[in-house]
Amino acid sequence: MQHPLLVIGHRHGIGRAITERLLTLGHSVIGISREAVDYSHPNLESRVHAAADLNSEHLPEFLSGLVFAPGSINLKPFRGLKMVDFQADFQQNALDAVHVLQVAEKALKAGQASVVLFSTVAVSQGMPFHASVAMAKGAVEGLTRSLAAEWAPNVRVNAIAPSLTDTPLASKLLGNEARSHAAAERHPLKKVGRAEDVAEVAILLLSSSWISGEVFGVNGGLGRLRTS
Ligand SMILES: NC(=O)c1ccc[n+]([C@@H]2O[C@H](COP(=O)([O-])OP(=O)(O)OC[C@H]3O[C@@H](n4cnc5c(N)ncnc54)[C@H](OP(=O)(O)O)[C@@H]3O)[C@@H](O)[C@H]2O)c1
Repeated sequence: MQHPLLVIGHRHGIGRAITERLLTLGHSVIGISREAVDYSHPNLESRVHAAADLNSEHLPEFLSGLVFAPGSINLKPFRGLKMVDFQADFQQNALDAVHVLQVAEKALKAGQASVVLFSTVAVSQGMPFHASVAMAKGAVEGLTRSLAAEWAPNVRVNAIAPSLTDTPLASKLLGNEARSHAAAERHPLKKVGRAEDVAEVAILLLSSSWISGEVFGVNGGLGRLRTS
């Protein structure tokens, strides 16, 4: 990966773990988050703005990769979900990613880049209270496969579908010992994910030259296994 990589959402959570790993590997990263980050590195250029405000002037001529990490976990019974909930989740998870990809298209193609988007385990496995986020992330999976076909062979496009991962986004669901324990027990591998567990798969996808159009489950076995 000879050119910079663009990481949207590098301040905390999975986007930060990916950024730190890329920097450790010697890559250059342009990071974008809505608030300033509390770390620095000679190869990191941090920008403070929302994904929706990205424009092509923010980008170099060539990009080797793009990670779009913003997302939501808006869990409510279906009757409690208002149209504005569905619209907000769709905007943040799907349409903001579309905007960033459209702005970056030229640089991604010029750099023969790899793109990593984020879905959720709740798309392939029905889970109560996930209607809004599962709909929005289902759109991300469709976008992943469509763009992977349209941009081949120049640009690879893949998605990662994590299960519950210990980041600020999941803090309410892992808010105390009892909740964390119950969440771990739901997974065949008896633990929730760490941001680093997801980042290592993202690094693989960013650096691979022969994977495109795939959605990778990183989910402690929850995606495919029954252990009882
Ligand atoms: N954690 C989980 O359990 C889990 C499970 C399934 C799927 N996922 C998916 O995995 C991805 C990463 O999740 P995460 O847990 O790492 O999320 P997170 O902890 O909320 O981190 C999101 C990052 O994106 C930035 N961000 C949020 N909205 C933004 C915007 N509009 N423009 C620019 N930056 C923005 C945040 O920084 P600022 O606040 O400074 O902007 C932060 O750096 C998401 O797509 C999520 O839906 C996560």
